[in-house]
Amino acid sequence: MWPESIPQAALAERRARLAKKFGGPALFMSGLARPRNYAANRFPFRAESHFLYFVGRPLEGAALVVRPDGSLLYAEPPDPEEALWTGPQPTLEELSRELGLEVRPMAELRLDEPTATLPSADVETAFVQSELVGRDIIAASGPELDGIDRALADAVIELRLIHDAAALVEMRAAAAVTERAHRAGMRATRPGLREAAVVAAMDAEIVAAGCVHAYLPIVTREGEVLHDERHHRTLVTGDLLLADVGAETPGGWASDVTRTWPVNGKYSGSQRALYEVVLAAQRAAIAAVRPAARYRDVHRIAGKELLAGLVALGLFKGDVEELYARGAAALFFPHGIGHLLGLDVHDMEDLGDRAGYAPGRERSRNFGDRYLRLDRDLAAGMVVTIEPGYYRIPYLLERPEEVGELEASLDRKVLAELADVRGIRIEDDVLVTATGAEVLTASIPKTPDDVEAAVRG
Ligand code: GLY
Ligand code: MN
Ligand code: MN
Repeated sequence: MWPESIPQAALAERRARLAKKFGGPALFMSGLARPRNYAANRFPFRAESHFLYFVGRPLEGAALVVRPDGSLLYAEPPDPEEALWTGPQPTLEELSRELGLEVRPMAELRLDEPTATLPSADVETAFVQSELVGRDIIAASGPELDGIDRALADAVIELRLIHDAAALVEMRAAAAVTERAHRAGMRATRPGLREAAVVAAMDAEIVAAGCVHAYLPIVTREGEVLHDERHHRTLVTGDLLLADVGAETPGGWASDVTRTWPVNGKYSGSQRALYEVVLAAQRAAIAAVRPAARYRDVHRIAGKELLAGLVALGLFKGDVEELYARGAAALFFPHGIGHLLGLDVHDMEDLGDRAGYAPGRERSRNFGDRYLRLDRDLAAGMVVTIEPGYYRIPYLLERPEEVGELEASLDRKVLAELADVRGIRIEDDVLVTATGAEVLTASIPKTPDDVEAAVRG
């Protein structure tokens, strides 16, 4: 599968909806590739997501101006000499036909009236952007936005929160490629290989499908290190391998999936028991996803289900509600249940919590909820991840100041019996539908039996 371009009509509709929601002109820059060491040797170019949302193509060094009376794209005309190195580039007329947009040379871009814009991740682009709009937006981040920029951010968030049909086509394509990558990773795994060999097998599927990674892959035998991006260790029989890998389509749309599988193709008794606990928590959370459900409640449902499983295994003693209130779930599951997903793997996190938190809501200070990236009432068309985990994290479990009074409820003997589990996470991408939820990544092996079968090939 090689994903198709996003249809012109869908992009025109997005621009028209923005123009209706937000009256004044709005500027979106696509950004520039960054040098790795010297100017001609660059990191792969990734256009800014807000630009991609409205233009659909990763044009470098381009700018889109959306006005109520229509949109204009500004781009660099092709340099004939550059064709020697990069092949013939489309003329602005050809680009205009391809995009269904009027296209003018970048040098003609003038903003004669107050124009809203959103911060760019790239400093050089942000500098150009500041010059164009006549104010300093380099230091601004989502929470600091003011005036027309804040109004634009809110209009864009309103649009991007609820995915249209074209976005869902892309996200389903990303999910399909991600399925192939995870199956390939499971099949390739065996004791004696390095983690990097499994990354390579997953990478091959992603690259062959015309996609890239949506984020740096986490493929690790040290699953308790939440964002472990190194892949140098050798896999040993008895290990679990945690793989958090998602494809991104050429149009920029992401998937984000984690599976945790046994390196030798068979979970031990303790691994299977804890896997079932995490899976039950994930299923309970997914069952709670529906329009009007508050995402923070989905997070709490997962935490309590996890805790109920840990109590059943004897790891904790006591009443689940009471243990939850004392922060017991966060000792083994310190992160949030998930986040928004779209063009960004943490969608619109460039705008801080403005996208993830509904107006009037802010992050909790308590340990269990502090890392929750999303607290909105869900609505049909949103896509969220659901990703509970169990992690045996020395930083938390070996420091009395972290364990606190929970020590009395924790059975260290049972913890020692479960020592062959360092980290388990199960993550899927979930679309909120009119009546409930659809798991976009449901065909990726997930039950212990299915995972074992996929690892054994
Ligand atoms: N892959 C990053 C995350 O799961 O949030
Ligand atoms: Mn995620
Ligand atoms: Mn992930």
